[in-house]
Amino acid sequence: MPQIIPAILAATEEEFRQKVDRVKSFATLVHIDVMDGFFVNNTTWAEPEKMKNILGDLPFEAHLMVAAPEHLVMVWLAAGASRVFFHAESTTRDELIVRSAEGQAGRVGITINPETPLSRLSHNIDLFQSVMVMGVTPGKSGQSFQPIAAEKIAALRQLRPSLDIYVDGGVKTGNVDRLIKAGVNSLVIGSALTDAPDPLQAWRDIKNACADC
Ligand code: DX5
Ligand code: ZN
Repeated sequence: MPQIIPAILAATEEEFRQKVDRVKSFATLVHIDVMDGFFVNNTTWAEPEKMKNILGDLPFEAHLMVAAPEHLVMVWLAAGASRVFFHAESTTRDELIVRSAEGQAGRVGITINPETPLSRLSHNIDLFQSVMVMGVTPGKSGQSFQPIAAEKIAALRQLRPSLDIYVDGGVKTGNVDRLIKAGVNSLVIGSALTDAPDPLQAWRDIKNACADC
């Protein structure tokens, strides 16, 4: 059963709160975009210690688009993130990161950019329960989906039938069905929800585009 996870990409705390307000009536989990201005050419407002206060009981996951994510992974886990994704392009220390998470290793996921081959994961894939495949080059929302991501999802699904496979970036009603058929189980959706004139209607449209969601 695929899940739909609204993405919150915000430049300021005010924008963060506004976007959360737009999705909180229907979201069961939110995706927090964390950008440092180094790994990607953009920064976001996302203070881990404020999340519980702003989100209340709404569970959250963190997507770290930061250089040298080793420490920040632990910070977001400690702040209560149910899952934290770091980028394969931001470090080679996959094993160290997962080991540092100790009893929470299953809550650490890895993300790959469209231009990164799946071979980056070939030695370490068994460290992870979840892999997030980027549908766009990260940095901003509202970009077009890159079809290579659907090919990677299908290959990953074949390689690891029980893996949690996420897709993030460029997901909308028009490609949801294709992505699910490729084998994805979590759809991270930003602008198609948070920038929609009526986010609840947009949520319903996505659900209708996806028979099993
Ligand atoms: C990309 C971010 C995504 C983004 C998704 O840099 O990691 O989470 O917010 O936005 P859309 O769905 O608009 O591509
Ligand atoms: Zn993201």
